[in-house]
Parts: sequence; structure tokens; C-alpha cells
Amino acid sequence: MADKIKEKARIESIDCLAPGIYSIRFKTGIAKLAKAGQFIAVYSNDKSRMLPRPISLCEIDRENEIIRIVFRIAGAGTEEFSKAKVGDCYDIMGPLGNGFPEVKGIVTVIGGGIGIPPMLEAAKSLKGCKVNAVLGYRDNNEFLKEDFINYADVYIATEDGSDGVKGNVLNAMDEYKIDTDYIFACGPTPMLRAIKEYAKAHDIKCYISLEERMGCGIGACLACVCKTKNIDSHSNVNNTRICKEGPVFAAEEVEI
Ligand SMILES: Cc1cc2nc3c(=O)[nH]c(=O)nc-3n(C[C@H](O)[C@H](O)[C@H](O)COP(=O)(O)OP(=O)(O)OC[C@H]3O[C@@H](n4cnc5c(N)ncnc54)[C@H](O)[C@@H]3O)c2cc1C
Ligand code: FES
Repeated sequence: MADKIKEKARIESIDCLAPGIYSIRFKTGIAKLAKAGQFIAVYSNDKSRMLPRPISLCEIDRENEIIRIVFRIAGAGTEEFSKAKVGDCYDIMGPLGNGFPEVKGIVTVIGGGIGIPPMLEAAKSLKGCKVNAVLGYRDNNEFLKEDFINYADVYIATEDGSDGVKGNVLNAMDEYKIDTDYIFACGPTPMLRAIKEYAKAHDIKCYISLEERMGCGIGACLACVCKTKNIDSHSNVNNTRICKEGPVFAAEEVEI
């Protein structure tokens, strides 16, 4: 079986979850191949926008062949997707990237802002683990919070203090004294940098998902490299391609 496919996928549902944040469910065979932490490339139907937009898998329903993505309007491509209708079709390619590892024990999934969506499938997939979810929002426009409650003990941080702990996800880790064996995290780079330090200081094994700027999404253009401890087989230097070797890395392996 192919490890990834490109196909025209029908939109089964589209919903606005919060201002500027949208959820789309696609009917696609990609669901059968995908795992938590991977992403798809969504092509624009406006052919002046050639490059696909990388979007993480928020939920995977293998039985019904449905994948869900949740995205923020960032520019022209995501704006176009937000205006799509049920029944519209988009070319999508995936699953792409490596995904989160299988682990056992207590796992805390941490999502900040638009880094929250991939953590939902991560929380769902951690069968046999005790799962905490620490979610950081700007304010009480808390998209996906209710979905996490089904799979994890949920702790909230908001920048403006309108819900949960006032501050960031690490303030919530401290405030709620969350003890954990593993951290899986996705969010803005300053947040991931702070989580990497926190994990090192507390001797916690930490995996971070990097959502950097991308071009091709399949390892060919090197638009997405970041510095790593290991030598990359493609470029032969201490770089790694986030789209191919990532987007999930052991925190100590990458410089962020
Ligand atoms: C692995 C991965 C997973 C992602 N998952 C999500 C997600 O689940 N939800 C979500 O809202 N966003 C996610 N992003 C970010 C999303 O890809 C960008 O917001 C989106 O590509 C912006 O496209 P645009 O046309 O709206 O913006 P524009 O700024 O007009 O885009 C111009 C070009 O730059 C690229 N680009 C711009 N910002 C980014 C970015 N942050 N990352 C990668 N390429 C970028 C676009 O793909 C496009 O080719 C993810 C990015 C990566 C790399
Ligand atoms: S986006 Fe082209 S190599 Fe990663």
C-alpha cells in the first residue's frame, strides 16, 4: 500500500469554531493511512496559488474515511478554504510527516493557539496512557476544548485570564502541579522553546511538532529546514527537513 496519496476530497462539513478558526472534514482514503501528528497538503482551487498549504490532522476517523483539519485564517489560501461549502472538492495529499511516537505512561499534550488541533488526535490515540491536555488560548474563544474533555483531563491557560490560569501553558503546568512522563507539544516557537527548557529541567521526555514555513511539503525544496544534532541524509549537513523527518522531533534533537 502507498504511504501517501493525492486525491480530490469532498468536504463533508465546514464549521466556524471561533473568530477566524474553521474546521473542515474531508472524505478521503488518507484517513486509513494516517496517524496522530501527521499533516496533509491542501491545494488551492485558485491555480494562481501553486503551493499547497500544510495543515495538521486534528482528527482521523479510519472507519468512515474522514479526516478533520482545524485552521486559522492566515492569508489568501486559508481564507479561500474558510469560504468553502459542503460538497466542494479539494486536491489534498497525505499523510505527510512522521507523527508522534507510541509511548506508555502519563502523557501531557500541550497546545498553544493554532497548535491545539493536532493535539486532539494525539490525545485520542494515546490508548492505555493517562492523558492530560494543557491548552493555551488568548481569551475565552476556546475552540476544541469540549472535544478534549472526552480523551484527557483538561487544564486551561488564557493570556487575559478569562478562563483557567492567567498566563501561558507552563503557568498552568505549575499551578495545577501536573506530573508527567512525556510531553507532546505544538504551538508558537517561543512556547516550544520554553517547553523544551521546562522538560529538560524536570527530566521529562519531550516531543515537539514544528509548524514552520513550507514549500513543497515532500522533502524536495529545503524551504523548511531547521538545525539539528544529526546529519541530514539529503543535504549532508546538520539540518533536518521539518516536512519529511518531522514535523515531530524529540525536543533535545532540534535547535529552535
Ligand atoms: C506541518 C504544519 C502543520 C500545520 N498545521 C496547521 C494547522 O493545523 N492549522 C493551521 O491553522 N495552520 C497550520 N499550519 C500553518 C499553515 O500551513 C499556514 O497558516 C498556511 O500555510 C498559510 O497559508 P495562507 O495562504 O493562508 O497564508 P500566506 O501567508 O498567504 O501563505 C503564503 C505561503 O507561505 C506558506 N506559509 C505561510 N505561513 C506558513 C506556516 N506557518 N507554515 C507553513 N507554511 C506557511 C503557505 O503555505 C503559502 O505557500 C501548519 C504548518 C505546518 C508546516
Ligand atoms: S517543504 Fe520542501 S523540503 Fe520541506
